[in-house]
Amino acid sequence: NQKCFIFDLDGVIVDTAKYHYLAWQKIAHQLGIEFTPEHNEELKGVSRVRSLDLILALGNMEASQEDKNKWLVQKNEDYLSYLVNMDESEILPGVLPVLTYLKENKQKIVLGSASKNAKPILEKAKIIDYFDAIVDGNDVSNAKPDPEVFIQGAKKVNFPNERCIVFEDSVAGIQAANIAGMISVGIGEETILHEAQFVFPDFTHIDLNFIQNLIHK
Ligand code: G6P
Ligand code: MG
Repeated sequence: NQKCFIFDLDGVIVDTAKYHYLAWQKIAHQLGIEFTPEHNEELKGVSRVRSLDLILALGNMEASQEDKNKWLVQKNEDYLSYLVNMDESEILPGVLPVLTYLKENKQKIVLGSASKNAKPILEKAKIIDYFDAIVDGNDVSNAKPDPEVFIQGAKKVNFPNERCIVFEDSVAGIQAANIAGMISVGIGEETILHEAQFVFPDFTHIDLNFIQNLIHK
């Protein structure tokens, strides 16, 4: 029995969603746009370019391409500044036991992230070797909820979508997994991630029996 386990990165494997939020909040404040944690839920899983467009839409603002490019650079520089000293301590609780269990049981492990910073982050966290395939923001042209990122991931390890399980903290990512016909596992709040087939507050709440049942399903 073998399945393909696809992991989102930010907010699932590593605690970087908070840094994305802080960096976007700085841009929004600079533009005089109110940007709350609730607004931020809509940005999770969404590409950098689309995230800025959503923030500008919040403020009913239009901007030149030149300004947008400037803010996109600023956001990424600010985001990366939080990650300068990043190490394995940013791995979210309960993640390593699950990755280890999957490896020991010869399951496929794939990354499916919208981030263009995915590979350096996995390297800093020292977990890149767990992954049989990586699909990130440099590979895809359609952002979640489009299922492209997960479908590419499944293809890379030659698995049909029905044998894939996706772990996601974003609404857009859960929708993408569902559209792809994959099993969706939400990591976060049940009220926000109600479209997921299963939801857990974090990986410490995921029993290895649950993983085993997914493998044998
Ligand atoms: C992930 C995060 C988003 C982020 C996107 C692009 O999906 O959840 O918050 O905007 O990746 O990340 P990047 O590192 O390329 O700006
Ligand atoms: Mg995420």
